[in-house]
Amino acid sequence: MELEEASGEDKGQRKSLETSLEGKKVVLVPYMREHVPRYHEWMQDPALLLATGSEPLTLDQEYQMHLSWTQDPNKHTFILLDKELIAGSFVHGDPHVEAMVGDVNIYMNDPDDLQTAEIEIMIAEPKSRGKGLGEESVLMMMTFAVENYGIQKFCAKIGDSNAASLHLFRKLGYVDASYSEVFKEVTLELPVTEQSFKILVI
Ligand SMILES: CC(C)(COP(=O)(O)OP(=O)(O)OC[C@H]1O[C@@H](n2cnc3c(N)ncnc32)[C@H](O)[C@@H]1OP(=O)(O)O)[C@@H](O)C(=O)NCCC(=O)NCCS
Repeated sequence: MELEEASGEDKGQRKSLETSLEGKKVVLVPYMREHVPRYHEWMQDPALLLATGSEPLTLDQEYQMHLSWTQDPNKHTFILLDKELIAGSFVHGDPHVEAMVGDVNIYMNDPDDLQTAEIEIMIAEPKSRGKGLGEESVLMMMTFAVENYGIQKFCAKIGDSNAASLHLFRKLGYVDASYSEVFKEVTLELPVTEQSFKILVI
């Protein structure tokens, strides 16, 4: 369910900055400045840095990163709220830091092919893993990306030891497309067809 929509000329391009999406188990909210300190705490964990292929940043650098992500029209990020952890009722525009458990993002990183998006998912809070939040969030993000940005193919780059993530994406129909010996990383792809889009609309 879409709760709020962007308006004016930004519609479409920066919609992820204005929209909250409610699923059965998660609410996806825009990545706000208020989320940065908790996000920064997560990204001190060596296991999460490894799983997401990230470098540790200072808090200042994390604020800069937040700014760059929110200003780049080819990157779209949502923070995941675990609905079981929301204090009171969900309010659009409230960061609900108490319930933030991870993020999902897409990145159209090939300027010659803006219809292909790399997708990443992270459930940073261990207590919220294994409850279906990752799967629901990926499906919601894919639906949002197809409907708002005309994405026709998704890819995911996953470390070959990351069994949970590999299982999740293969379950959703992604197939192995290539393997990098250097990065020990599998690239999985899913073209958007009429058939694959049917599983997206949840
Ligand atoms: C990998 C991750 C995104 C999965 O999200 P999640 O919410 O925990 O997973 P879900 O509950 O939605 O489960 C989806 C599927 O993956 C499977 N799965 C989840 N955790 C698993 C694990 N540790 N090992 C094997 N399979 C696992 C589930 O069983 C389910 O498949 P099933 O329905 O066939 O049983 C999450 O655990 C995570 O972020 N981990 C750390 C960071 C990371 O690795 N990010 C990926 C970088 S792209």
